[in-house]
Amino acid sequence: MESILRVDGGKPLTGDIFVRGAKNFVPKAMVASLLGSSPSKLRNVPQIRDVDVVSELLSLHGVQINFDQGAGVLDLNPENVEIAHVADIDALAGSSRIPILFCGPLLHRLGEAFIPDLGGCNIGGRPIDFHLDTLRSFGAVVDKQENGIHITAPNGLRGTQVHLPYPSVGATEQTLLTAVMADGLTELTGAAIEPEIMDLINVLQKMGAIMSVDTDRTIRIEGVKELSGFTHTALPDRIEAASWASAALATRGDIYVRGAHQPDMTTFLNTFRKVGGAFRVDDEGIRFWHPGGDLKPIVLETNVHPGFMTDWQQPLVVALTQATGLSILHETVYENRLGFTSALIEMGANIQVYRECLGGLRCRFGQRNFNHSAVISGPTKLHGANIEVPDLRGGFSYLIAALAAEGESMVRGIDVISRGYEHFLNKLARLDASVERC
Ligand code: EPU
Repeated sequence: MESILRVDGGKPLTGDIFVRGAKNFVPKAMVASLLGSSPSKLRNVPQIRDVDVVSELLSLHGVQINFDQGAGVLDLNPENVEIAHVADIDALAGSSRIPILFCGPLLHRLGEAFIPDLGGCNIGGRPIDFHLDTLRSFGAVVDKQENGIHITAPNGLRGTQVHLPYPSVGATEQTLLTAVMADGLTELTGAAIEPEIMDLINVLQKMGAIMSVDTDRTIRIEGVKELSGFTHTALPDRIEAASWASAALATRGDIYVRGAHQPDMTTFLNTFRKVGGAFRVDDEGIRFWHPGGDLKPIVLETNVHPGFMTDWQQPLVVALTQATGLSILHETVYENRLGFTSALIEMGANIQVYRECLGGLRCRFGQRNFNHSAVISGPTKLHGANIEVPDLRGGFSYLIAALAAEGESMVRGIDVISRGYEHFLNKLARLDASVERC
């Protein structure tokens, strides 16, 4: 059944909410637990769909899982890992992008892996060529099949040199999860260095891995023969924190995000301040609010860490529709992440999208017919509309737009949002939003 939210907008969001562990870290730490010869414990785990999907996939491979949802504590016991039935794995096809990260750990534990077709948001082609090239350079043999890929390592996995043509988060994680138990040294250049990856390195080091990170995107890993389990508290979700911050700004509200962690959000906080948002950091979180007066337009370019995250972009664009003047946006991570602007235009926003690179960087998408830049002219009054959630972050930005808009909106397909935003309906209720599920 389709999930629809009726939103009565035009009121500031005010109150406090709590953000738990990062969606883009927790499932990867869960995969890492497969490498251990003893149980692991992960704390600060949110109740989101990606955690469910990875739990199911781990269970199919014999990992015993216990999730205390209230406490956010996940116990994972991989002592009896076994080969799963392809038909069972296949049932999870299209549900997430995380399954591709099972390759290295399953090859180490079982000598083979079957990975179903991936899912995830439709925000670009999202190929897996870097993943497969990397696995092959470790000695894996990849057999593409009709409904997924089958991978073996007839001669074991050997340390290797990997150079990523682009600092891909997933391909960096793939390399780390494979290299830690490969035979010998691996040198990865062109690595992504997102805080979530650094936290995965923390987990792997706790398990017994030997790895070092240089300032030039080079990671060196010395393979070890055995890893143990880990106990770890996940870093907080900086995308969710920034999304609520943007919601505070767009609705002229005031939201205290308990759990928000300043060191992982430096670039976002600078941008938020430039737009005219106010924030105060304390030991437990960050308060974000609209201080009154006009918001200011900005030039915004998304990039890999330490740049402005692509996942922060969509929610912030809603606030930029309320800034006085022209904002320029250049999306350089995904070629197709501006489709969500069409519904904002329908709601009254003034946004033009362009194929050209409008920022300081000439990016990979410049001469390739992708609408990946935008000019946002504000302020514009938003009015309620019937809109359909296009993807996770686009969906949250629609929620913000509906909450900022005058009148009633019907937001369809809101279940997608629960892939990455824990209990977002309860949080909206805490913030006094007028929303009703129908
Ligand atoms: N890319 C390739 N080939 C590959 C892999 C990636 O060309 O084999 C390209 C992609 O097409 C994209 C760019 O490299 O243009 C970056 O992709 P990356 O691999 O870094 O992304 P990912 O690992 O698939 C993770 C997050 C995304 C987040 C990106 C960038 C998870 C589960 N997903 O994706 O999160 O946008 O890193 O930070 O960690 C989200 O949370 O809404 C989300 C989409």
